[in-house]
Amino acid sequence: MSSRHVLTIDGPAASGKSSTAQWVARTLGWRHVDSGSVYRAATFARQQSPGTPATWTEPSVLSAAAGIGLTPVDGSFVPTLAGTPLGDEIRNLVVTAEVSRVAQMSGVRQWVNRVVQQAAEGHDVVVDGRDMGTVVFPDASLKIWLVADPWERARRRLQQRLGRGPSDEEIAAETDELVQRDAKDATQTVQARDAVLIDTTYLTQPEQVERIAALARSVASKR
Ligand code: DC
Repeated sequence: MSSRHVLTIDGPAASGKSSTAQWVARTLGWRHVDSGSVYRAATFARQQSPGTPATWTEPSVLSAAAGIGLTPVDGSFVPTLAGTPLGDEIRNLVVTAEVSRVAQMSGVRQWVNRVVQQAAEGHDVVVDGRDMGTVVFPDASLKIWLVADPWERARRRLQQRLGRGPSDEEIAAETDELVQRDAKDATQTVQARDAVLIDTTYLTQPEQVERIAALARSVASKR
């Protein structure tokens, strides 16, 4: 039986997973699912209901998240809340500060896993996150573990955010934040034993995309 192909890309924050996954999916003609966007959408949905973040319980997050869906758009998926597409609001400061804690709620993880699996059903997909290759798609045809030096990850993130080359002081402060974020997400960021490690510190984005697409083509041709 010819089965669909699932390529998982996991790794720490700002390792370029989502942009690489999106680009690889486009190169292969597969669909891209960004699991982090679903955790962010759930956090954003909860933010829209009353109560400060300290009062956010798992049931209240799950209840707010009930209005979330993933809608296919241009070979990718956009999270929606009550049918309205969510954009940059899922990257607001409160969401970014609180999403790690929300992502540690086991019921929320089970819910996100189901949403991601349902979106991926019946398609060749590239899915990115922290535990796609271990928990959500343990039988994936190809698993990538994407890493990069924290300083370089911080530099890239700032370059994207500021649209200019950041100073060493700016990179140092961002590196500090990134290392703290890695520590917060550590329990759910798990390298699959059968993952291919790609360190992108010294790779350009086209190089990493081509490397992963070549691996995916090779695996797909054998199935
Ligand atoms: O990749 P990102 O920064 O958009 O992820 C947002 C948050 O969700 C981050 O705290 C890690 C968490 N996350 C997770 O726990 N498991 C995933 N599969 C994807 C993201």
